[in-house]
Amino acid sequence: SSAPASKSPAILVTRRLPDNVRSRLARDYSADLNEDDGVLSRDELLRRARDADALLICPTEKMSAEVIAALPERVKMVSCFSVGVDHVDLAAAAERGLIVTNTPDVLSDATAEIAILLMLGAARRAGEGERLVRADRWHTWSPTFHLGTEITGKRLGLVGMGRIGQITARRARGFDMEIHYHNRRPLDAELAGDAVYHESLEEMLPLCDVLSIHCPLTAETTGLLNAERLALLPDGAIVVNTARGGVVDDEALIAALKSGKLAAAGLDVFNNEPNIHPGYRELENAFLLPHLGSATVETRDAMGFRAVDNLDAFFAGKEPPDRVA
Ligand code: DGY
Repeated sequence: SSAPASKSPAILVTRRLPDNVRSRLARDYSADLNEDDGVLSRDELLRRARDADALLICPTEKMSAEVIAALPERVKMVSCFSVGVDHVDLAAAAERGLIVTNTPDVLSDATAEIAILLMLGAARRAGEGERLVRADRWHTWSPTFHLGTEITGKRLGLVGMGRIGQITARRARGFDMEIHYHNRRPLDAELAGDAVYHESLEEMLPLCDVLSIHCPLTAETTGLLNAERLALLPDGAIVVNTARGGVVDDEALIAALKSGKLAAAGLDVFNNEPNIHPGYRELENAFLLPHLGSATVETRDAMGFRAVDNLDAFFAGKEPPDRVA
């Protein structure tokens, strides 16, 4: 006799997730796991969504107001495998009554590590040095060869002091950095510690030897780091971005790196990934990574479990813990 028809909710998973997460989804849901990991086109996503009660999506799936409006009625929830939700039009989701969740906390350590890696890599010209060794262009040790600057004891400015900004500050204190931050509001004293709050970015920028971006991409933060604001940084400053490329004006950052106004930049995120502004590739003083902030075995498992926890709560009739719309 055949097995009884499955009553478990149907989930469309848009990308191939870590094995542990796939096993859990396959056990508890009727899941379309997109095993080949191709990025689904808008039409393919909408077609496969016809058989889904919920979607588990990644930042590669752009849920614009238009896509949300075209979603089959059956789809009630979108669980994002990311903390950033700039790829989802939250207002359109709320209007349609579509529940949206994200995966905060679990990737904060991994992302803060990459922020520190970028600071060090940019300051010590690690990418450039690595390229030199690989190309057999390293000729001798010399007292004046390939000098960078230290981050130890320098002033660090954090744009955004949420979960990731706070952990980055904690790690940076290990390098005796002096911490400044700009945030929508000051942190409680015990969280802020010795970090100095600046109500305006303009006031903070002249004090930053290293600037690290940790705010979400929203209408207010799009293009926040433009030519005028970059000009306020001290000469020879370093800019690091592990948040979203859209917070930075590419033309302005490239110009500041070219002119020597900035010593270097360390970038893990870009506008229009992976088709980044070609200007970055030509700059020796740009230390570039392919959006690796949360890319560890531990963190990707934890993100997946958190995304499934949110689905579990929703289908158990409870409020999903990480609801953002
Ligand atoms: C996020 O979670 O928003 C990252 O950018 C993807 O790991």
